[in-house]
Amino acid sequence: MSDPSYFQPGAERGARVNELFDRIAPRYDLINDIQSAGLHRVWKKWLWMLAQPKPGEKILDLCTGTGDIAFLFADHGHDVTGLDFSAEMLRVANQRKTSTQRIEFLRGDAMNTPFPDQSFDVITIGYGLRNLADYGKALLEMKRLLRPGGRLLILDFGKPDNFFLRAAYYVYLHLAVPIFGQIFCGNRAAYAYILESLKHYPAQRGVDDLLDAVGLENRRVVNFFGGTMSINYAEKNTDPPT
Ligand SMILES: C[S@@+](CC[C@H](N)C(=O)[O-])C[C@H]1O[C@@H](n2cnc3c(N)ncnc32)[C@H](O)[C@@H]1O
Repeated sequence: MSDPSYFQPGAERGARVNELFDRIAPRYDLINDIQSAGLHRVWKKWLWMLAQPKPGEKILDLCTGTGDIAFLFADHGHDVTGLDFSAEMLRVANQRKTSTQRIEFLRGDAMNTPFPDQSFDVITIGYGLRNLADYGKALLEMKRLLRPGGRLLILDFGKPDNFFLRAAYYVYLHLAVPIFGQIFCGNRAAYAYILESLKHYPAQRGVDDLLDAVGLENRRVVNFFGGTMSINYAEKNTDPPT
């Protein structure tokens, strides 16, 4: 019998994650609203506010999915590139796009992008880093793409410090979220993947350490609901070493 888990370590990781998102793409937005009671929209808006995009700045939204974060920037007049490897998630994103939004959705791997060095002023990645096979490699790629003074913002599930909150939160992710996946998507395993991937993910503290290790600066962590959700923020030095 094949392994029903969507979490696979190592080289298999990307293909299995791609398969997962291709399958759930038509219901992804609906389940996001249900499982977070609509709050994911608030956290994405926070991410947009923390980025403080200035007129003319170029934005890259990695693991853009159906484009929520890309649309937030485009609705404020920015040129946005949204990159994702799931053709089906990008199909939904393109269906949502309006003629006034300057967004280009591209298919590609967040760990190995086609863009030249220093192409973007702001890079965002929402619920994406946790899915990548090598977090450190991905962060180095993001640093490469940032212009000096550019900002990186990472939104994802967190790991609360409080033991009781963390236990209750894990029970919710273990029991309730897969049921939503089963009911609305016919795919329990796809939503069980959230907790599986979170357990392997270093979350806000570990990501902050990784950002430090790759040499990004002015780092900070913004926690929501006791750390169940978080944003890691970092900047690229304006004076790169010569
Ligand atoms: C949970 S969704 C997040 C979508 C969107 N950013 C949001 O916040 O709603 C994760 C997305 O990451 C994409 N993804 C995962 N690994 C990727 C990779 N290596 N390269 C590009 N996209 C990837 C998936 O296809 C999926 O669309």
